[in-house]
Amino acid sequence: VIGGSSQPPAAGDPRPIGVFDSGVGGLTVLRAIHERLPHERLVYLGDTARLPYGTKSPETVARYARQAAAVLVDRGVKLLVIACNTASAVALEDLQRHFAPLPVVGVVQPGAAAACAASRERAVAVIGTDSTIAGGAYTRAIARIDPEVRVQGLACPVFVALAEEGWTDGPVADAAVARYLRELIGAGPAAFDTLVLGCTHFPVLRAPLARALGPGVTLVDSAEPTAAEVEAVLAAAGRLARAVDPRVDAAAGEGLQFLATDGPRRFARVGAVFLARPIDPQSVELVDL
Ligand code: DGL
Repeated sequence: VIGGSSQPPAAGDPRPIGVFDSGVGGLTVLRAIHERLPHERLVYLGDTARLPYGTKSPETVARYARQAAAVLVDRGVKLLVIACNTASAVALEDLQRHFAPLPVVGVVQPGAAAACAASRERAVAVIGTDSTIAGGAYTRAIARIDPEVRVQGLACPVFVALAEEGWTDGPVADAAVARYLRELIGAGPAAFDTLVLGCTHFPVLRAPLARALGPGVTLVDSAEPTAAEVEAVLAAAGRLARAVDPRVDAAAGEGLQFLATDGPRRFARVGAVFLARPIDPQSVELVDL
C-alpha cells in the first residue's frame, strides 16, 4: 500500500534464550535451537574454567549450575536451557524452583523420550559422564516414560577429552570407542538397539560410534529433542520471537552471543567444531561467576 500503512510485524518476545554448559559441548544444543528457531537471540555460557562437571560431586555441580544460570538470568533471558547432561541430571528441579517462574529446560528428559521412541526392541544403552551414569537420571527418566524399556549405562569420560581436543574421528577415537564398547557389549552383538549419547560432548563422536555399532543401533542425542521442547514451551507461553530484524542474518550466525569463564580463544577454536561454524574469539566475552 502506497503511503505505508503496513505495520511492523508483532515482535513476540524478543528477549534472548539462555543456554549453558560446563564447556563447549552444549553448543551442539545451541546449534539445534538456532536451526529450529532462527529468529531467537541466544546467549550461551560455557563454564570453561570449571569443566569437567562430570567427575564432580552432585553438590558441586548443583552449585556451579546455579551460578551459571544466575549470570544468564541477570542478562534478562526468557527461558533457560541446561545444555549439559550432568547439570540437568542433578540440578534441573533446583533451578526450576530457584528461578521460578522462569521456564527451565534440561536435556535428559528430551533425550530419554527420543530414545523410547526410537527403540523397537525396548532395549536402550546410555553413555555419559561418571556423574550422569552413577546418578541414574536416564534410567529414571526412561522408566517414567516406559517402564518396560531395559536400560544399561556406561560412563565414558575419555570421550569428553577427545571431543575437547577435536580428536573426533581417526585411530585414537576408534580405539577409545572400541575399548568402551567392549565394556558395554563384550564380544557379542549389542543387547540394545538404541544408544543415547547422554553427554553434550558425544555427538561429535557420532561417526566412529556409528561405524563400530553398525546399522542395527540407532544413535540418539538430546540436541534436537531439546530444541523441540524449547519451541513447545515458548509457543505455549506465547513467548516466541516473531519479528525478524532484517539486519540480522540468522544464516550467518548472527543473534548468537557467547560467554565463557576462561580461555575465550580456546572456546572459539574448539567450540567451532561443536557449533559447526566459526566463532570469532573477539566476540567471546569473559565472565566471572
Ligand atoms: N557437558 C557435560 C555433559 O553433558 C560433559 C562435560 C563435563 O563433564 O563437564 O554431561
